[in-house]
Amino acid sequence: MLKILNIVGARPNFMKIAPIVREMRRREGEFLPLIVHTGQHYDEAMSDSFFVDLGIPAPDFHLEVGSASHAVQTARIMTAFEPVVLQEKPDWVLVVGDVNSTIACALVCAKLGVKVAHVEAGLRSRDRTMPEEINRILTDAISDLLLTTSQDADENLKQEGVADDKIKFVGNVMIDSLFYNLEKSRSSKARENLDLVGKDYAVLTLHRPSNVDEKEVFSGLLDALVEIGEKIPVIFPVHPRTKANIAKFGFAERVAQSNIRLIEPLGYLDFMNLYSGARLVLTDSGGLQEETTALGIPCLTLRENTERPITIELGTNQLVGTNPEKIKQAAFSILESSEQTGAKIPPLWDGHAAGRICSALCAQ
Ligand code: UD1
Repeated sequence: MLKILNIVGARPNFMKIAPIVREMRRREGEFLPLIVHTGQHYDEAMSDSFFVDLGIPAPDFHLEVGSASHAVQTARIMTAFEPVVLQEKPDWVLVVGDVNSTIACALVCAKLGVKVAHVEAGLRSRDRTMPEEINRILTDAISDLLLTTSQDADENLKQEGVADDKIKFVGNVMIDSLFYNLEKSRSSKARENLDLVGKDYAVLTLHRPSNVDEKEVFSGLLDALVEIGEKIPVIFPVHPRTKANIAKFGFAERVAQSNIRLIEPLGYLDFMNLYSGARLVLTDSGGLQEETTALGIPCLTLRENTERPITIELGTNQLVGTNPEKIKQAAFSILESSEQTGAKIPPLWDGHAAGRICSALCAQ
């Protein structure tokens, strides 16, 4: 029986851990799964509602670290997590994605000699100004089992000198959650509540520091989005960081006068209900690039690079950067075209990645 501490901290972790914990509970003779929530995200809309929507059992440990600078947040997670590892003596600690909770918990384990499995290993944007890229490189360097979502990630790891037997291509666990919940999301009232049923609309998410912490960049993005809004309503569930910066930079009036509709962050099922009916998605999120690819919805990524190139090669994603002209042109060309995107679902994005992750852990 393998005792596993499964780590969650921030919003994009919850949909990755949910199918893994469900599978471990199903294989009860093989696994004893425990959940540790670091508390990196703590608002009802950023955390609790995801436990409910995704049916994740209540955490066995809640570290309640909250927000702070990167150094302080990472250090607080490490300080609070170490005694949990010492007390529980797990066979494995499983971390997902690339947030501060991921590297903080992996680092604690590496120092204590406890084995770490990293789900979503090997993704690289090659942009070291991105905090997530630092978290990815460091987590992969100290993990014992590297579970990848696509074969380009395997190649990245091999180029960095990781031994072949540590790397296992298992597919995309985020897509497990998407397929498992798609039907359920149809009964959400999100679209209806926003009066969007049967209408064309775009969905926007923005929260990367490089896009929303710099006034000039954010302002340029808004220029493009306001113009896109003249053709199609742009529904914008706002991350707390972005909301604070809209107020700080004095953009509230400009947004209010446009066809960009600011709404509170949505829960998992409500957000799926919203984006799955969209004509177009504009985003700087990593996960949404994958979800739109799996559903064949056109996606414009408002970044200069992506760690998920497969969503461009096979999927619906286009990298448009932050240049307002380029963003507008790409959006208008999608809105004017009536062609299907003809996207392919990448290999092993089939809803069964969690099963392969569990088997990989057992095989170690
Ligand atoms: C984090 C992740 C990012 C992920 C994103 C998803 C890191 C380095 N970044 O970024 O990869 O895409 O989560 O949301 O781990 N805040 C709240 N309520 C909350 C959480 C945050 O109000 O529940 C506010 C606080 O003002 C906080 C700010 O948001 O200072 C940023 O939160 P933080 O966890 O530091 O980073 P994110 O931008 O959310």
